Amino acid sequence: SEIFEPKRIIVTGGAGFIGSNFVHWVVDNQPDVHVVVLDALTYAGNLDNLAGIPEERMTFVHGDICDEALLEEIVPGVDAIVHFAAESHNDNSIADPEPFVRTNVHGTFRLLEAARKHDVRFHHISTDEVYGDLALDDPARFTEETPTAEQPVQLHQASSDMLVRAWFRTYGVRVTISNCSNNYGPRQHIEKFIPRQITNVLTGIRPKLYGDGLNVRDWIHTEDHSSAVWAILTKGRLGETYLIGADGEKNNIDVLHAILEGMGKSADDFDWVKDRPGHDRRYAIDPELRSELGWEPKRTDFAEGLKATIAWYRDNPGWWQGAKEAVEAKYAKQGQ
Ligand code: NAD
Ligand code: DAU
Repeated sequence: SEIFEPKRIIVTGGAGFIGSNFVHWVVDNQPDVHVVVLDALTYAGNLDNLAGIPEERMTFVHGDICDEALLEEIVPGVDAIVHFAAESHNDNSIADPEPFVRTNVHGTFRLLEAARKHDVRFHHISTDEVYGDLALDDPARFTEETPTAEQPVQLHQASSDMLVRAWFRTYGVRVTISNCSNNYGPRQHIEKFIPRQITNVLTGIRPKLYGDGLNVRDWIHTEDHSSAVWAILTKGRLGETYLIGADGEKNNIDVLHAILEGMGKSADDFDWVKDRPGHDRRYAIDPELRSELGWEPKRTDFAEGLKATIAWYRDNPGWWQGAKEAVEAKYAKQGQ
């Protein structure tokens, strides 16, 4: 099948964790592509995430994906929209779901309308969470056929996936969707599990583990997510949903032990805290992508990736220190 070769792409949420890693990946690996980042710079967005990218490779637009007039200005003439902008944190979706409905559902709708009007290719970044959770001893993993789930953050993401599929079927918008497993790596917000614990240790706070610590997540390095998204954007079949994973299942306590060991702490140097309400037990991806698109994850050595991630937070205290106190105060209020 034909290879799609975009020259100018909009990356929404490009100042966030996964979006900024994708922008860096494109700038480093696709010399002919110009990136237009559209980002509202919410609490999760940070312009520093795009530092060092030359002006001739990237244009930054500070704005909201729900802003129809702004989309009218920037969408005409681009070849593709790669859509990462979202409210992404589960604990926040439980405390206050409204921004999730607005950005994840209405924002995706606005972008789809702009893509339809201007005939622009659309790739939607989604999550494995839309498939709910699995029992620890379930031999199955998530596939495209797995039914969608019932937690607030998942419902907002699942709703946006359904909109994308409808805009393909009804209006013929050239779409693809990817549902990826848990990412880790540099520039992840310190509200998330791995960076929270690394920065706890760096500031002399004991790491915090929810529930019984046996919940399983399927970890992939964010750089591998970026290369997978590029493979789908350029070689994926229109209308298709692709699951991205790298066989990285681990339970939380093992991940925490690896962090503690990597940072010279003993294995019991952490606190057990209140569980997340409705805490998903296990996520696991059955990745079919590899055979079809010839994509392979490269950073599959978790110990090495974690070491590099710890080093990144240690070397970049200015990036996270300003947010630390408020993040921990919020968690403390939730008993976490
Ligand atoms: P993030 O919270 O780090 O970044 C989100 C970015 O979107 C921020 O830069 C923010 O400013 C921007 N944004 C939010 N609302 C906006 C709006 N209305 N208009 C414009 N910009 C807005 O999120 P992330 O971890 O990078 O996740 C990105 C996407 O990937 C989400 O859909 C998430 O569910 C999905 N995903 C995440 C993971 C993970 O492990 N983090 C795994 C798989 C999929
Ligand atoms: O699977 C993809 C999803 O991964 C994405 O859709 C989400 O956007 C992303 O935030 C992530 O969701 P999780 O809920 O899995 O990630 P989080 O980092 O919040 O938590 C990972 C696990 O660690 C989860 O089982 C809860 C647990 N946890 C989390 C925190 C913040 C703790 O035990 N202690 C903590 O302090």
